[in-house]
Amino acid sequence: MTDIEKLLSSCLFEIENSRTTKRLDDIKVAVLGKNGKLTEFLKSLKDMPEDKRKIAGTEINAAKTEILNSISSKAVRLEIAELEKKLASEFVDVTMPARVRPSGNLHPLTKVADEIADILSEYGFTFAEGPNIESEYYNFTALNIPDHHPARTMHDTFYLNYPADRKEGRKLLRTHTSPVQIRAMLANNKPPFRYFSIGRVYRSDYDATHTPMFNQIEGLMVGEGISFAHLKYLMTDFLKKFFGVPQIELRLRPSFFPFTEPSTEIDINYKIKGGKIIFGSGDKWMEVVGGGVVHPNVLKAGNIDSKKYRGIAFGFGLERLTSLKYGVSDLRGYFESDSRWREAFGFSYAAK
Ligand code: PHE
Repeated sequence: MTDIEKLLSSCLFEIENSRTTKRLDDIKVAVLGKNGKLTEFLKSLKDMPEDKRKIAGTEINAAKTEILNSISSKAVRLEIAELEKKLASEFVDVTMPARVRPSGNLHPLTKVADEIADILSEYGFTFAEGPNIESEYYNFTALNIPDHHPARTMHDTFYLNYPADRKEGRKLLRTHTSPVQIRAMLANNKPPFRYFSIGRVYRSDYDATHTPMFNQIEGLMVGEGISFAHLKYLMTDFLKKFFGVPQIELRLRPSFFPFTEPSTEIDINYKIKGGKIIFGSGDKWMEVVGGGVVHPNVLKAGNIDSKKYRGIAFGFGLERLTSLKYGVSDLRGYFESDSRWREAFGFSYAAK
């Protein structure tokens, strides 16, 4: 084996075993550079006799070409391998499940308020609002609860330390959403109309089943020929839709509210199966709503002709409906803002 053949074979071996394109550059310089090994052979040609020089020259040039070809083919393979490695590291598996981002969720009261608003809007009820700070007039007087009427003491009212108004009386935190009936009628006293309201109410009461602040839903429907039958039909259909059951039985018990006459408290039938409460079947009764035919004095306070028009009204407790539908047992959890509680009872936005 000639020296050139030896150089060529060791050089090809090194090229083949190179792991980086940088290494290839180094080999190229070491062999073909100004002081490279093959370059040294070329330089030595001039001292050779004519005949040998020709043969050696051809051999050196052939070796040079082979080395260059080998380097460029190896370079291509290294580049491809490097690219593949890079692509593999940047690979996106589109079949992977999405990363769950920390997200908030809907408070069960918000969810149920939305559900109720959806159902009532189907019947043509529109949303009406009133202030949380009310006056004695709207909270009591206009609702047919005159001064010193015992009904005023039925509500454990929070009065505000604020000078009383000559017409409207003292300021207070509204004890129910019924004052919204009056405000809605005064804002639009041209029947027929249907309003509902959802909002906070306040009573000085605190135990396992009472909190000083809670939420009510109020409905009011006024028109010609409206009667108790409308209330019964509406409540039956509403409660079926709300609890998502094909049928439901109502038990209407006579009751008393100063602002409705006659007044009723409505129970629905249920049974317990496998520790769960099922509405619409069974022979147990659960109270869910109060209502009645709007008292003429209330229509008058709302500037409505009480000879021509009749109204029906109903009121639910939002927390109570929510607890019954979604099995929330402890009332206090609703207001404690404990994120663990909300994770257990809340709803994802998607479920909305
Ligand atoms: N406002 C009543 C309450 O707080 C509920 C109710 C509303 C009753 C409308 C009749 C009609 O208890």
